[in-house]
Amino acid sequence: MSRGVFITLEGGDGSGKSTQAELLREWLALQGRSVLRTREPGGTDLGVEVREIVLHHRGDIAPRAEALLYAADRAHHIATVVRPALERGDVVIQDRYIDSSVAYQGAGRVLDPDAVRGISEWAAEGLAPDLTILLDIDADAARDRLDAARTRYDRLEAEAAAFHDRVRAAYLALADAEPHRFLVVDATRPVVDIAAEISKRVAPLL
Ligand code: TYD
Repeated sequence: MSRGVFITLEGGDGSGKSTQAELLREWLALQGRSVLRTREPGGTDLGVEVREIVLHHRGDIAPRAEALLYAADRAHHIATVVRPALERGDVVIQDRYIDSSVAYQGAGRVLDPDAVRGISEWAAEGLAPDLTILLDIDADAARDRLDAARTRYDRLEAEAAAFHDRVRAAYLALADAEPHRFLVVDATRPVVDIAAEISKRVAPLL
């Protein structure tokens, strides 16, 4: 049994996950908790290499190969970084986890979502988050934010609007199916209000 708390952040590209992850890290540190902030893909040295492939490979990647690459990143990350941190009693704040695979490779790439989940659960030896924060945002609004912040899209961001609409719908369905695990937040609200809602939900888990 691990003593830590495992919190994941999910949402479309441009939903503001990184900003909220950082504000949550600062708040938890003020509560005196030891925090690990990490992400998928790319939370390990191996993962950095996998991340480069899945986000920037120039040719096509078959949808199942993409699903397996994310799962490979996950297997190594959970085994070598996240589980040890939880065993130490840390609060782990992780940008993206299995729900990303179910939403992006399942609904986005149109693979069987149960199969995608099955591969990831095997990869992560069944580790489930204590809480998942879904920053919900309309795909067009998210695209406007990305345009304002950046000039080049990665492979996933470059997908058509319909892809991102499917991802959003899949996330909302996941949250509906597991209301106790999810906190769904309207990502267009002011940053400080979202942060306050998140810390209120996290407090009882500590
Ligand atoms: P990242 O730059 O981390 O995106 P963001 O800042 O929006 O979180 O890139 C991760 C990309 O990989 C993002 O487009 C979602 C995608 N992804 C999947 O398709 N499947 C997965 O399992 C994971 C973890 C991410």
